[in-house]
Amino acid sequence: MDSTAHNVTVPLDGDGRMTVKLSPPPETVGLRIKAFLWRLLWPIRWPVSRFLWILSWLFRILQWICFGIHVAIDYVRLMYLDYTARPDDIFIVSYPRSGTTWLQMILYQLTTDGSMDFAHIAEKCPWFERSAISKRNLEKLPSPRVFKTHLPYIWLPKRRCRYIYVARNGKDVAWSFYQFYRSHFRYRGSFEQFFRLFMRGWVAWGSWFYHVRGYWKRRNDPRFLFLFYEDMVQDLEGAIRQIIQFCGLQIPEERIPEIVRRSSFEFMKQHEEKFDYAFELLVDQGIVPGRFLRKGQPGEGQQAFSPPLHEQFDRKYQRRLASVGFPLRTLPK
Ligand code: A3P
Repeated sequence: MDSTAHNVTVPLDGDGRMTVKLSPPPETVGLRIKAFLWRLLWPIRWPVSRFLWILSWLFRILQWICFGIHVAIDYVRLMYLDYTARPDDIFIVSYPRSGTTWLQMILYQLTTDGSMDFAHIAEKCPWFERSAISKRNLEKLPSPRVFKTHLPYIWLPKRRCRYIYVARNGKDVAWSFYQFYRSHFRYRGSFEQFFRLFMRGWVAWGSWFYHVRGYWKRRNDPRFLFLFYEDMVQDLEGAIRQIIQFCGLQIPEERIPEIVRRSSFEFMKQHEEKFDYAFELLVDQGIVPGRFLRKGQPGEGQQAFSPPLHEQFDRKYQRRLASVGFPLRTLPK
């Protein structure tokens, strides 16, 4: 069966799939001249394209170098000048894919009323080193502040506050990180290729072995609580009680079951967009997710126009568009 609309023909093939055939638009003199020039340039098309490709890469590398320097300067500024530690600050520290977000949720539940009324968990529990780039003012956050960080021990701001490190089996981390690279960084290599990079520490946040070792050596420091992801999976309530005790929090006993429920994988999965790194980047840039398909109502925007704005718009419209017959459509009320 064929369905035809204007110049678009949509025949259905034997499998019921649509094949779309568009008739070419009419040719103009301008288009004919462009096609002639294009044919003339054809022999040098390849070398010019290659040259521009190399140029583009050189600028990209330059951009990375400049970005690296800019981040390093901003981080040094954040760590030594802008960040003022408070005694009740809590740092969640981990190598990526080890349960960081999980701890963010647990600590958010423990340090607030636990309402899910936020766009992304980073709003409540910011990523410490990222604030050097996002320029988020950490001083404005209410106490107790909870930060997440993936910094290795050497870079961690070591102050009089609390640090909770969570470690996970490196093999699971490697696999989870590989999946994350594929879904969020468009990585297209095989797991074997990624694993080689992981083992050498040539992935974001460097060597897992170096990271874990750096913090394991400090496990007896009273400012540090060292947790294992696997223990948390096995006994979540036990881990939550350990955190409460370590942080000296006063949590009424009757709140514990709800905190455990909200920290479960199932509950967090239901609210995944509030924990996803992709959304964090958007929120970081001031973008509010879920506002793309807003209202879809013609005329709604005009309510925001004051009479002078209406007048300014109408004047320009009369001059530039009404003069050529372009109508401004409105729906009847
Ligand atoms: P998987 O990729 O194996 O599923 P991070 O937040 O440090 O990036 O860690 C992400 C890993 O923690 C993911 O592992 C994720 O599923 C797991 N995780 C997050 N919340 C969890 C929860 N409530 N219970 C168990 N695992 C959780």
